[in-house]
Amino acid sequence: MDRPFLDLEPCGPLRGSLRVPGDKSVTHRGLMLLALSEGEGRLLHPLKAGDTLSTARALQALGAEIAEEGPHFRVRGRGLRLREPEDVLDCGNAGTLMRLLLGLLAGQEGLFAVLTGDASLRRRPMGRVVEPLRQMGAEIDGREGGKRAPLAVRGGGLRGIAYTLPVPSAQVKSALLLAGLFAEGVTEVVEPIPTRDHTERLFRHFGLPLETEGPRIRTRRAEPFPAKDLTVPGDFSSAAFFLVAALVTPGSEVTVEGVGLNPTRTGLLEVLKAMGADLEWRVLEGEGGEPVGYVRARYGPLKGVQVDPALIPLMVDEVPILAAAAAWAEGETHIPNLAELRVKESDRVQAIAHNLRALGVAVEEGPDWLRIGGGGVRRGEVEPFHDHRIAMAFAVAGLPVGVRVWEPGWAEISYPGFFGDLRRLCGAS
Ligand code: S3P
Repeated sequence: MDRPFLDLEPCGPLRGSLRVPGDKSVTHRGLMLLALSEGEGRLLHPLKAGDTLSTARALQALGAEIAEEGPHFRVRGRGLRLREPEDVLDCGNAGTLMRLLLGLLAGQEGLFAVLTGDASLRRRPMGRVVEPLRQMGAEIDGREGGKRAPLAVRGGGLRGIAYTLPVPSAQVKSALLLAGLFAEGVTEVVEPIPTRDHTERLFRHFGLPLETEGPRIRTRRAEPFPAKDLTVPGDFSSAAFFLVAALVTPGSEVTVEGVGLNPTRTGLLEVLKAMGADLEWRVLEGEGGEPVGYVRARYGPLKGVQVDPALIPLMVDEVPILAAAAAWAEGETHIPNLAELRVKESDRVQAIAHNLRALGVAVEEGPDWLRIGGGGVRRGEVEPFHDHRIAMAFAVAGLPVGVRVWEPGWAEISYPGFFGDLRRLCGAS
């Protein structure tokens, strides 16, 4: 069978500035909270890509009215009470959608829903949200006793619990906080290791109950709340591909504007700085409770580093693109604390190791770590393993020498115009 591919010729210096599409995490959450609000609100500059369109469709099936208005979405919410869907809800490739929606649906009195997804999502662990939701009183069943989708949920009867996250996961935290909006008493999530805090910031934006005390995050049953416009910042995870492309391509200078700089997302900047990267960034404004600004990256030599394990949860989606930077650095880079990467859209530890080898880079793979020999890459072919971030990261890794990317369409899960933007910055038409 013919598989699609894209050949990228060696790229000259990347120059100029760009805005990347809206943040995926904030778009999922913004749509969900607007769907629960009363009246009409707009989600401004959302991400319109595979994952977030799955969220829009699922919420429409649950009775929210969502219309496109130019680049924006206009949402008429249901006021805390969703409608029972007539059919199975297809979450596509989106783990964030499936996990957060489970929390939300668990709170809907008497409502029955079945959630499924694509082959990758049906392999991913769901026990991490199903278990604590059951402790709150949720009725959920599914494959392997509820560990994997398809999952069936019958909502209602929730009571608050105190739950310490066994793995640092913003998706689990968010699912429990959403369920807590419908539970009796207080729901407390304790996160020993901080993870992205978009849900907390959005609860504040919409005036929903939220208290934080160190690692403890509490919510309680929500009163009906009015819709409110929300502006989505550019996605730092998408910006990261262009920053690294500029750092590894001689003569480059790229500025990404209007990008979210939430400190629970920007661990990559610290690691790249430690590698000697010529980077500068500044927060200029806040939107929807999120810090927003610019990041500028200039080409320069990079050196291998030992990555601090505590930074990984703050850059969990940026490890593939960090691996691309490490391949171009002088000396070895060791990246620890990667157990969670094995259960992302693909097994990213394996996918990174495979593609680095395909580009002639020495790599050693452990159960939860990678050791990457630097020194640059040679022309080769890269395999996305059905994973958007792997497709984009290894397109960048090979860009300075030219690379064939198999199934480039996977990028559309989070960044539909990615290859066009890359070509434009390279000065190609
Ligand atoms: C996300 C959290 C992270 C991240 C994912 C988006 C979110 O997953 O990898 O792309 O929006 O909450 P985990 O919470 O499972 O680490």
